[in-house]
Parts: sequence; C-alpha cells; structure tokens
Amino acid sequence: MAERHEKRNEAATGDPAEEKKKMIREQAIGWATRPVPCCMTPAVLDRLLGQGYTREDIERLPLSAVARSVGIGNPSAHAEIAEGDTVLDLGCGVGIDCFVAWKKVGEQGKVIGLDLSPDMIGRANESKAELGAANVEFYVGDIEDIPLENESVNAILGNAAVGGAPDIGRVFREAFRVLKPGGRLVFCIAILNEDAPKADLDAIHAQVGRFDEPMTEQEWLANARDAGFADVQTLTKRPARSSGQKNWLLATIKARKTER
Ligand SMILES: C[S@@+](CC[C@H](N)C(=O)[O-])C[C@H]1O[C@@H](n2cnc3c(N)ncnc32)[C@H](O)[C@@H]1O
Repeated sequence: MAERHEKRNEAATGDPAEEKKKMIREQAIGWATRPVPCCMTPAVLDRLLGQGYTREDIERLPLSAVARSVGIGNPSAHAEIAEGDTVLDLGCGVGIDCFVAWKKVGEQGKVIGLDLSPDMIGRANESKAELGAANVEFYVGDIEDIPLENESVNAILGNAAVGGAPDIGRVFREAFRVLKPGGRLVFCIAILNEDAPKADLDAIHAQVGRFDEPMTEQEWLANARDAGFADVQTLTKRPARSSGQKNWLLATIKARKTER
C-alpha cells in the first residue's frame, strides 16, 4: 500500500452518488496513511476518552487502529454486545470499533467490518494480523448493499460513516435485513443543527464535496422507523467541537429489530 497521500484517478461516472463514493475513497487514502506515533500519546488518549472509549476498550489495540481512527463516539458501548454475538461495523475504517467489539464477543463470536476504501481495509487487516484476531473479517464493500445473508448478525455499529452514504434510508433497510430479530443498531452520527441560521443551512445544502448528508435528528430517526426499526431513540447529543462543524451536532442513536 502506498504510504503517501496519492490521488487515484477513478473514471468519472456522472452519477452523483458514485462521484461521492469516489470522493470518499480518495479522502480515505489520507486517513489510512496518517502517520502513527511511536506510542500512545496524551493527545490520542484524550481524544479517544472524549469519544467515550474506556481505557479497557482500547488497551493492547494496535496503534494504527486507534491513532488512525476518525470516529466521533463509541457505538459498541451501547450495543449490548454479548459473548458469542456476530457484530457488523458499517464503514469500519481502520477497524477500531471492530476490535473493541472483538474483545466483547470472545472466541465464539465474530466481527465483520465493511468499508468502501481498500486503503482502510488494508490497514484494518494489518491490525487484525498483529492481534491474531482470527474471528474478525474485513471486506471492501458498500453499506448501501451489505454482502451478508438476511438475519445473520446480532448488532450493527456505525461510527461517523453512515452519514457518508448518499441513500441513508437504503442503509437502514439493509441493516434491518441483515439483523436478527432482537438485534441492535447503534450509529454515531453528525446531525444538522436545525437552529442554525437559514443562510448557513442553505450553504450546507449547496456545498459540493461534503461528507455528511445534511439530515436533522428527526430525519435520522424517521429513516430508522421507516425501515422497520422499533425503540428508535437518541442516546447522546453534543455540539461538534471543530470550527468547520459549527452547525452540526454529534449524536448516538439506537434502534432495535423487534423479536418475532
Ligand atoms: C470518518 S471515517 C470513520 C471510520 C471508522 N468508523 C472510525 O470510527 O474510525 C468514514 C468511513 O466510512 C466509509 N464509508 C463512507 N461511505 C461508505 C459506504 N457507502 N460504504 C462503505 N463505507 C463507507 C469511508 O470509507 C470511511 O472509512
């Protein structure tokens, strides 16, 4: 894998959804090749603790998996993951949440990470080898078209990833399809602050090349309900810290597929 941020020239398709995915793959090269410090630094540790990970969650994980993570929360903390569960992480990046979940599912369980970016999946596989995590599998693929059987997983995670999909309703429908009855879905997402000035909201909607689809909290929750989920709720919500995100809030939402 190339160590520098190189721009691959994927052919233009003219399809806005495909153009967005191409942009995300290009952006992910930068994330996957970020330099990793020699050891856990206070800055990395503070960031991860601030996102809700515990020291136990991240201890002994490869530095590449934690330092190159680009999430905004800790979805595993809310997904009621039990030993023996199968867990799917949508837009897994370099795999931090897969490895946090791996510690919870034990040897009898299984974790699957899915990401659009071969560069992210390459990094995730390096960390898998370093950990000897035989029951973690990573696949290059699209979360709008999950390559898994119906009712095959107990919990689905997504951390700063689902908002990148052009058709978020389709992601929820796919998640509902592959979840077993009783299964949980936990997404850490950026939501649009409806109270932002109208001019700012208009500018966000008009912006080309943004990662997150501009959806309000109620639109996110409605998408989950429309896909068939029950117990749809917002667990946490806080302002985004970076200045470029002043009109966004960071939230964790949870939903459940009802038992038959
Ligand atoms: C901001 S990164 C977060 C990565 C990881 N969840 C973490 O917490 O570090 C977003 C990730 O979502 C992936 N992604 C975005 N849209 C996707 C899609 N339609 N299908 C699969 N992966 C997608 C990107 O390739 C990228 O790795």
